[in-house]
Amino acid sequence: MKLTRSKRIAGTLLLPGDKSISHRAALIAALAKGTSQITNYSTALDCSSTLSCLQQLGLELNRSGNVVEIVGRSDWQQPAAPLDCGNSGSTIRIISGILARQPFSSVLTGDESLSSRPMGRIIKPLELMGAKIESHDGKPPLTISGLRDIVPITYELPVASAQVKSAILFAGLGAAGRTQVKESSLSRDHTERLFNGFGVNVTTSEDLTVTLDGPAQLVGGEITIPGDISSAAYFVAAAMLLPGSELAIEKVGLNPTRAEFLSVLNSWGAQISTSSVRYERNEPIGTIEVRGGRTNSAVSEADKRIQRSQIPSLIDELPLLAVVGSQVPGGIEIRDASELRHKESDRLRATAINLRQMGAEVEEHEDGLTVFGPTQLRGASLDSFGDHRIAMAFTIAALIADGETEIAGAECVNISFPEFFDLLNSVSVK
Ligand code: S3P
Repeated sequence: MKLTRSKRIAGTLLLPGDKSISHRAALIAALAKGTSQITNYSTALDCSSTLSCLQQLGLELNRSGNVVEIVGRSDWQQPAAPLDCGNSGSTIRIISGILARQPFSSVLTGDESLSSRPMGRIIKPLELMGAKIESHDGKPPLTISGLRDIVPITYELPVASAQVKSAILFAGLGAAGRTQVKESSLSRDHTERLFNGFGVNVTTSEDLTVTLDGPAQLVGGEITIPGDISSAAYFVAAAMLLPGSELAIEKVGLNPTRAEFLSVLNSWGAQISTSSVRYERNEPIGTIEVRGGRTNSAVSEADKRIQRSQIPSLIDELPLLAVVGSQVPGGIEIRDASELRHKESDRLRATAINLRQMGAEVEEHEDGLTVFGPTQLRGASLDSFGDHRIAMAFTIAALIADGETEIAGAECVNISFPEFFDLLNSVSVK
């Protein structure tokens, strides 16, 4: 993919459904009583992986465009072949929580990137609940032998993770008694909100302990998935970085555990506001408006340093924040983010390599990055590292760089956002 500078971003966008919420809505529908209808289901390849796994597990499912209908059932069928989770960490980790309580054995596989990602984090709690899980040194493929009578656990997550928290909660639906998961910092809470929205009471205490009393039955129904705020982030950043921009993104998810990115950019002088919030099964939806340019000439030391407690709610936006950080006085310092080394690529390394290629000064730490700024970026030959978020973050970098940028393997954006380049072309003024 070849890219050049943009003058500004102008227009109004509606985005495909949120990837995280879509996975959960499909899994909830597949377990719930009755038939559910999901509208604006994510177009991400990852979310198609979840649906094809569900079909292999005997679920009756109909997809017409972005509307998905699923007839729920509590007893899933043993799949005849391994379940291919593709590139999707959410699919393999969250579905494992449900397979842990199905009385049969199943095999979960994925592509090369997924096959190198750590699964010990779900294996441990799900085995404590009674399932047996074989892996290749803590990595996929996973062979899960589930049992109907799994036991509830109280579990403290070693690293805040919404995928792991969700795997335990989905398993907990089938366990007789109280399941509790405690996190050190709050990760995205879609599972908790949607369980409450579909009839199962889940509470979160001030010390971030999530509690669910099982067994519990979800009740199906309708949901319209909000636009994906992690996809919105790229457009918001581009509009902020290009003075004169005017962008509105409508019907987008504004869950606070996902929207931290907007607060960080505003602390750096961005002109971003949100409005018209309504709720869809407890998930806030509204409009994001951005005017181009920054209002502060300086950024405080405190604001340039990302805090440990912010990391989970910025997790997918950190490569993009590093790009934006290269443009603000003082730059950005990210620490306590070694989780980024275990995503679809090693995102600390990929971000450092690409930023340096574009002329930025970057220090790479074991658990983060320091990016110095402001630096005028220059066009360069970059690698997506097969990682959709790296491809999109550096597409935005290319829009503000001098000269031409080429990103190898940029088609990996299909993993989360197939419409990315078309929508960008529709709002980017050359
Ligand atoms: C996700 C949680 C995050 C995030 C991923 C989606 C989810 O992963 O990086 O893109 O849907 O729960 P972790 O929970 O492993 O941090």
